Amino acid sequence: MLSDRIGRITPSATLAMTAKAAELRAQGVDVINLSVGEPDFPTPENIRLAAKKAIDDGHTRYTPGGGTMDLKKAAAAKMKRDNDLDYSPEEILISCGGKHSLYNACQALFQTGDEVIIFAPYWVSFPDFVSVTGAKPIFVSTDSNRQFEPVFDDLKGKLNSRTKGIIVNSPSNPTGGVWSDEAVLKVLELARERGIWVFSDECYEQLTYDRPFVSTAMLAEDCEKVLTFQSCSKTYAMTGWRIGYAAGDKNVIKAMGKLQGQSTSCPNSISQVAAIEALSGDQSEVAYMRQEFKKRRDYIVNRMNQMDGVSCNSPGGAFYVFPDFSSYMGDNRKIRTSDDLSMYLLEQKAVVTVAGDAFGGNGHVRFSYAASDDDLKRALDLLEETLKELA
Ligand SMILES: Cc1ncc(COP(=O)(O)O)c(C=O)c1O
Repeated sequence: MLSDRIGRITPSATLAMTAKAAELRAQGVDVINLSVGEPDFPTPENIRLAAKKAIDDGHTRYTPGGGTMDLKKAAAAKMKRDNDLDYSPEEILISCGGKHSLYNACQALFQTGDEVIIFAPYWVSFPDFVSVTGAKPIFVSTDSNRQFEPVFDDLKGKLNSRTKGIIVNSPSNPTGGVWSDEAVLKVLELARERGIWVFSDECYEQLTYDRPFVSTAMLAEDCEKVLTFQSCSKTYAMTGWRIGYAAGDKNVIKAMGKLQGQSTSCPNSISQVAAIEALSGDQSEVAYMRQEFKKRRDYIVNRMNQMDGVSCNSPGGAFYVFPDFSSYMGDNRKIRTSDDLSMYLLEQKAVVTVAGDAFGGNGHVRFSYAASDDDLKRALDLLEETLKELA
């Protein structure tokens, strides 16, 4: 009955864990949720006030399909200010979140017969975005000791005449890895030689802790085939407002806008006004959140590395750590996979995480530190207790 297209989509592992956690909570269990993919801070007040005013001022109707001119101009000015990138409004599309922009871009460029490179561990949506177009996701391994940068021999061996795109996501979900400029440059060079599109998902661009973020397009000699994706979601704690944007070749942007216009009409009008305030207004809350996340990253990495048999490199960005627990796993042991470990933590300790298996990172578990200091401490105490039980 259903189309083949739907059959190509896998159910979200993150949502399965959320459902299980909700079930436990309903039974009165005190659940600690470290599976979240969104900041635990409120949306800054200046942005909330701008949204309230937008309603009173009548910004409550359809806008142009690809977003308002004012917001496109604000996104262009933001990319100039923060990333030193020069885009004009016609090279920008405003979407219902960065995810929506990425989905549109995959639909606009990929089709059956194409191959698209995805670096593993990957954000769960990338393979689905690609396979729903009929194209084939090709997974390339990364080096966990080097911020999950590509293993270049593997990448080179997988590029061929069918390769149409490469998806870069630095800082990364789920690893938090931030690639060096050298690694990004190597990817750009390989792509340019072969005329391959590079998608740079930069939704965590404001959350880097060890060095300032450098946008992929900034490093590209010629940006023609680089598409940049950014978002208000993580930077301004605006996940529910659904505003993200893409920038790049104006013909691709136009095609993405055409598809968007026939699927969602336009992004939310009130959120678009609020996003102008987010991108152009006071940025001090962003700096505050970055500083708080950095403290938590240092705490969680330090605690993890004090636990026997756990290997946890310090990720340069986002709000995830992706430690390796494979020394606790084995065919004849109670815990065989990271799914087993994540389920054990949930069922025995009421700590919600996401197993690395879902992200193509066997042996690892993703912990989000977008949680209070108290929750983090309690969860890490419980993890320590768990590992002693499983040793
Ligand atoms: C790597 C990555 N890209 C894109 C997104 C999409 O975010 P949004 O659609 O809220 O902008 C997310 C959200 O979790 C993400 O982790």
